[in-house]
Amino acid sequence: MRPPSEGGDMRKFTSTLRHPARIVHAHCDLPCGVYDPAQARIEAESVAKIQEKYQDAANQKKPSESEEDFKARCLVIKEERADMVKHHLWVLWTDYFKPEHLEAHANLHDLFWKATKLAGEAKHSSDPKVGQQLLGRQRLGRQGPAGLREMISATLTIGLVALSGKTIIGYAIARYAADSGEILNLAVAPEHRREGVAAHLIDALLEGLRSREVREVYLEVRESNGPARALYKDKGFTVAGMRRAYYRYPTEDALVLRLQLDGGA
Ligand SMILES: CC(C)(COP(=O)(O)OP(=O)(O)OC[C@H]1O[C@@H](n2cnc3c(N)ncnc32)[C@H](O)[C@@H]1OP(=O)(O)O)[C@@H](O)C(=O)NCCC(=O)NCCS
Repeated sequence: MRPPSEGGDMRKFTSTLRHPARIVHAHCDLPCGVYDPAQARIEAESVAKIQEKYQDAANQKKPSESEEDFKARCLVIKEERADMVKHHLWVLWTDYFKPEHLEAHANLHDLFWKATKLAGEAKHSSDPKVGQQLLGRQRLGRQGPAGLREMISATLTIGLVALSGKTIIGYAIARYAADSGEILNLAVAPEHRREGVAAHLIDALLEGLRSREVREVYLEVRESNGPARALYKDKGFTVAGMRRAYYRYPTEDALVLRLQLDGGA
């Protein structure tokens, strides 16, 4: 169909706009070249938070609204947010990744397929565990070694261990997508603390992320975790935000820390 400016029929043209034969969606049709997994992550955070609020409707609702109305509102917003997660994942999946990424990470398709499936599941579920799963945040304490194994073997993950002889005395795990990374786990055996093990692990992790063209790294830390906060501060991380009641057992706020790897602010 030619537009009127190119000699096409105006009535047919406007009718096609009102009744398109096919609707397509695009992140950006230039394309703008701006791809950031943080968009999907923020929407997923929102899904998980709303699921929690839904479960605690009696305390979370405004005094002026009924519990039923609050829950209905939660469901509508959660579904929208879960759709946004899918949308942002699809943009990365279909626009950002190139054949060379697939060559380097053979199960990229599988990873995105599973992530979009999880977003779909979170859309239908008001169970906070499903939202946490979407965020890849199953707690190792409850998951045990199988969860740890799964985390390490996932694509776009860097897992490092520190050895003393043949004994593992510390480990660190990060994952990344496009130019954004996240430190998921870091721990050092109590008897080897204050020997610089974590500092070495973090340096190696950041080096690995930098070499994969990651530009910014995030992590969450308990507000009360003085040693970890001191360590991350040493490494240049700064506070980027806070997640209320993020941790369980015991419930505590999380500080979100951020480090720019390419020298920018
Ligand atoms: C946080 C943790 C990983 C630090 O490991 P570590 O190997 O003892 O740390 P390092 O020896 O490399 O310390 C590096 C810097 O971190 C800071 N730091 C580490 N432990 C500290 C403590 N107990 N008190 C104050 N600062 C501390 C210091 O600045 C230290 O530098 P310095 O020794 O020159 O003063 C370790 O305490 C741990 O495993 N804790 C439990 C798990 C955990 O909290 N993980 C972090 C989750 S976000």
